[in-house]
Amino acid sequence: MSKRKGIILAGGSGTRLYPITLAVSKQLMPIYDKPMIYYPLSTLIQAGISEIMVITTPIDMPMFRNLLGDGSRFGVKLSYAVQPKPEGLAQALIIAEDFLAGQASALILGDNLFHGAELTRDLLAAGEKIEGATIFAYQVNNPHRYGVVEFNGHDTAISIEEKPENPKSSFAVTGLYFYDEHAPTYAQSITPSERGELEITDLNKIYLGKGNLSVKRLHSGTTWLDTGTPDSMMQAAQFVQVLERRQGIRISCPEAAAFKQGWISASELKKLAAPLEKSGYGKYLLQLAAHEI
Ligand code: DAU
Repeated sequence: MSKRKGIILAGGSGTRLYPITLAVSKQLMPIYDKPMIYYPLSTLIQAGISEIMVITTPIDMPMFRNLLGDGSRFGVKLSYAVQPKPEGLAQALIIAEDFLAGQASALILGDNLFHGAELTRDLLAAGEKIEGATIFAYQVNNPHRYGVVEFNGHDTAISIEEKPENPKSSFAVTGLYFYDEHAPTYAQSITPSERGELEITDLNKIYLGKGNLSVKRLHSGTTWLDTGTPDSMMQAAQFVQVLERRQGIRISCPEAAAFKQGWISASELKKLAAPLEKSGYGKYLLQLAAHEI
């Protein structure tokens, strides 16, 4: 179990999904068979992180509490904080400062989905690094929509730009960031960008400027999807459906991830699955608890 604390940023206005998100938070929307926020929650659990803060909007917070509770169902300790307005991803570190209490952190965006056999190894390696920051780069065909990292050789990052018109590479920065204990202080020093946000790219640039940013290319067998538009949400759902139907497994179930970590026992898992047993999700948890898969 890592001492590093987790933050899931699940606020924002979801305007690119209107009218779907007029009344319901984007991160509560389904990605095939489970709510979107289950995916980043599972990723943090996979990284061995058991103390997690969910940051959301004032209106949506009660629904997240209803869904996730105090986290004990997933073997973790969850707390909640509000971001009154979507003033930028880096603001999450400022909001979470007291919660972090001088500990290192891992911030994940509530609409990012990671999956792959090599992922746990990458997450654990990033978590072990005590000083500086680790971010992940992923090759995409539309880098201008993301933070873009330029490499010198294989692994040394030389620049990061937020949504550049002319991207210097096809490597996007994913929505998963491992920071040392200085991140809240650095985030305080950032000024809002032209779009009025405290940019996570500016925080990463501070680490880069100090020579303290490690940019890890995700393994080509790893999948990274974001789910911010109707098309990308549909593609993510289809990806999950294809994998799960083909292999007879479920991916990114936080209960299953916690069971694998040994944070909940087989008998606890069985109890947790009971109210869900009419769904394929619940049946999967029951099979896991019975060591059938
Ligand atoms: O997905 C990775 C990308 O995420 C990175 O490559 C970019 O560098 C980074 O800026 C970010 O870009 P996006 O344009 O995807 O960010 P977006 O504004 O859509 O916010 C991402 C998620 O965070 C979204 O689910 C809403 C939520 N959010 C956003 C803001 C600005 C908040 O909860 N609070 C906020 O203040």
